[in-house]
Amino acid sequence: MLNEPFHRGRRLRATAQLRALVQETPPLTASDLIMPYFVEETEDTSLRKEIPSMPGQFRLGLDALANQASRAAGAGVRAVLLFGIPAVKDARASSAYDDEGIVQKAVRRIKERHPELLVITDVCLCEYMSHGHCGLLREDGVVENDPTLELLARTAVSHARAGADVVAPSDMMDGRVAAIRRGLDAEGFAQTPILSYAVKYASALYGPFREAADSAPASGDRKSYQMDPPNVREALVEARADIEEGADALIVKPAGAYADVLCRVRQAVDVPLCAYQVSGEYAMIRAAGLNGWIDEDRVTMETLLGLKRAGADMIITYFAEDLLRRGLVRQ
Ligand code: PBG
Ligand code: ZN
Repeated sequence: MLNEPFHRGRRLRATAQLRALVQETPPLTASDLIMPYFVEETEDTSLRKEIPSMPGQFRLGLDALANQASRAAGAGVRAVLLFGIPAVKDARASSAYDDEGIVQKAVRRIKERHPELLVITDVCLCEYMSHGHCGLLREDGVVENDPTLELLARTAVSHARAGADVVAPSDMMDGRVAAIRRGLDAEGFAQTPILSYAVKYASALYGPFREAADSAPASGDRKSYQMDPPNVREALVEARADIEEGADALIVKPAGAYADVLCRVRQAVDVPLCAYQVSGEYAMIRAAGLNGWIDEDRVTMETLLGLKRAGADMIITYFAEDLLRRGLVRQ
């Protein structure tokens, strides 16, 4: 007569108190988030030019960036990631490793006023190259690996000299972590951590960023150095190689479409992991939100929670400042 007892998952979902008690992933906090900014080398240092495909994000002149960083710090932002847009681009990315370059100036400005704000710099050459590739381009169109390493190391050292707390190489050249580690150590920056974009896919989701940073390759694509989207075991090889070379923490990028990769890397290595919710992910959520098609805040929080659940210790997201300012993420 008696029904066989069956699983009643609803018992523990019945009230907010019960749900809180059995919650597996802790809520996001300010210390999980890293906020990216684009700083442009321009006469008009108060420039604040909205990026069309990234509503709410701006190309900032030096003064505008300093103000933005102050407001962000006031809102609870604890870490920022800087991208530079130089006035001059050439075939050797000279302004990337110029001590008077735009990122170097931006780092000094922010650290002067806000020594407590953690400043991470993106170390790459594409924004500084006339051809838009992340490494030196040979005449036949090949992006050269080994000759690029020295320029990357010089860039990272120059950022550290300006006061960067962490350097984040995003170029995907082989051996760059080792080259950067050697460069930093030789110049007295043995304590500067490397947050390596170890697992970075050749993704269409970087489209809005390339518009923002004016860094799309003039010819060809990045498939000969960024990873092929179907591959996941390769991500583990890349992650282990970067740790071997001296990376302190790793980035998986993009985030949402690669949550499985994040999860696999989390199981394979024990260093801190960062997920990068990239420009295209931001653009899609914002566009749908602005159209009233989704509840933007709830969708944003759900995507970020998903990344934590998949194994991210920290998340780079263009939503960070806004979420903190509006109290959607607690301190
Ligand atoms: C530079 C770099 C890119 C991004 C971060 N660093 C662009 C690219 O590789 O083309 C993308 C970030 C984003 O889309 O938000 N190599
Ligand atoms: Zn690049």
